[in-house]
Amino acid sequence: MTQPIAKVTDIIFIRFQLRDLEAQAGYLEDFGMTAVHKTSEAIFYRGTGTDAYIYAAEKADTDAFIAAGYEVNSLAELQALAENQGVAIEDGDALMGGKRIRLTDPDGLGIEVYHGVHKADPIDENVPLLNSGKHKHRLNETQRFGGGAAEWSMDSQGNMQYALPSSVMRLGHTAINVKDGPASIQWYHDVLGMIVSDNIIGPDGNVGGAFIRCDNGDMPSDHHTLNVVALPPEAEPFHGTFGHAGFELEKSLDDLMAGHFHMKTSGKYVHEWGIGRHLLGSQLYDYWRDPHGFIIEHWTDGDLMTADSPPQDVSIVEVVKGQYGPIPHSSFNMSLPLEAVDGFREATPNLTEMIVGAMEAPKADS
Ligand SMILES: [Fe+2]
Repeated sequence: MTQPIAKVTDIIFIRFQLRDLEAQAGYLEDFGMTAVHKTSEAIFYRGTGTDAYIYAAEKADTDAFIAAGYEVNSLAELQALAENQGVAIEDGDALMGGKRIRLTDPDGLGIEVYHGVHKADPIDENVPLLNSGKHKHRLNETQRFGGGAAEWSMDSQGNMQYALPSSVMRLGHTAINVKDGPASIQWYHDVLGMIVSDNIIGPDGNVGGAFIRCDNGDMPSDHHTLNVVALPPEAEPFHGTFGHAGFELEKSLDDLMAGHFHMKTSGKYVHEWGIGRHLLGSQLYDYWRDPHGFIIEHWTDGDLMTADSPPQDVSIVEVVKGQYGPIPHSSFNMSLPLEAVDGFREATPNLTEMIVGAMEAPKADS
């Protein structure tokens, strides 16, 4: 295999341009992030981890994904990337610091790569231990999140609301929709050094995408830092689009559940998929659509792999069915204005028919 130009060590943030920063700020706070810097022109949010920010958006007349930000270990790697891609090295912004380059992938999706960024002090939260039937780690101690029952209140309409949001720690991955899966997987290997965890094999027997991760040698990396999803020719308007971004939580299952009830009982947001446990990467997941129609995910308890874990070929059925949880809507990974979501779901065959049916799974009425 070709030696890559550089090896990104992790993903740091996602950047958007949006029409309504105030609505987005409210959403991100309900989602469980903390504001670092807010003006009428731009917003920056952090998690409880060490990244200066994990979500950034600037004010614009149209909504669009701008870039995903990654990090490399050395200035030499950044220079090699800049030379290979024919782009200039710039200073990072005041919050992120360091040096950066901006490039685009084969579908025109934005990428920023950094070296020497500022690191934030982590926000250390108490992470309660979980007891299983077999392993009892918590003794003479109660399991409490936030204010316990005091997190519940009733609004003026008589609806119960749950106040405690999730504690988002860091960005773990993005998913992108591409025109040519194998070409994108090759590009992310050759340029950014990512390696395959799972090749996704479609109904036609060809590679229809992959879960790929950072190559950190003997150091563990998340099962996927990028999910490449190849869409068929008829889905051309969605080639080169943002699918979703997955944010890891500080705590575990309870953090995911608390966040779910906080988002749900607010009555303000569109739920996209979950709660369930993925098969590929094993995360417990919960996906929500933001006020601009982009999907972001809470996840916890994912798989970690070192570079010597070999790639697997897996059926696309294993992506949509997971281990347990609902089958996703056909709108999953499609960035759509909120008012278009219901129509899209109705007009587009559901994923059970499209994928599970195509793989000759038993029909519901058989
Ligand atoms: Fe995800």
